[in-house]
Amino acid sequence: MRINEVSDLLKSLMIQMEKEYKNSFIYLKISSFLSTKGMNKLSKKFYEQYKEELSHAEQIFEFLDSMNVEIEVPQVSSMKINFTSPLELAMFYFNLEKETTDSLTEIYNLAREEDSLSEMFLKKMIEQQIHETDETYRLLDLVELSENKWYNLELIYSD
Ligand SMILES: [Fe+2]
Repeated sequence: MRINEVSDLLKSLMIQMEKEYKNSFIYLKISSFLSTKGMNKLSKKFYEQYKEELSHAEQIFEFLDSMNVEIEVPQVSSMKINFTSPLELAMFYFNLEKETTDSLTEIYNLAREEDSLSEMFLKKMIEQQIHETDETYRLLDLVELSENKWYNLELIYSD
C-alpha cells in the first residue's frame, strides 16, 4: 500500500513511529551528554532507554509492514542537548514520555472506533508506557533525594 492510500489511523501510527525513533536519538544524545560529565551510571540508563525507544519504533515498523504499508524512513536532524541541573533533565524526560503516552492514547482511541487489529497492537504499546512512566517518576524521586546535585544523583543511582 502506497502512503497516499493508507488510512489516517495507519498514517498516525507512522508519525508515532517517527516520534519513537526521534526519542531514541534524543536519549542517545543524553547518554553521551551524561557520559562526558562523568555520570557513567546515568549515561548507561539513558543508553538502555535509547534501545527501548528503538524497540518501540521497530514494533510499529513491523506492525505497519504487516499491514502492507510502504513505510517512509524518518530523517534525523542534529540536536543540541544541554541540562544545567538534574531536575531539568528529569523534567525533560518526564514531559517527553508524557507526550508519548498522550499521543499513543489518542491513536488508540481512534483505533477503537475503526480497526480492531490496530487496537490490539496499540494496547500492547500503551502497556509498555506504564513501565516508561514509572521510570520517569523514579528519576524525579532520585533527583529530589539527591537535592538536585549531579554528583549525589550519580552516587545514589542504581539500575
Ligand atoms: Fe517509546
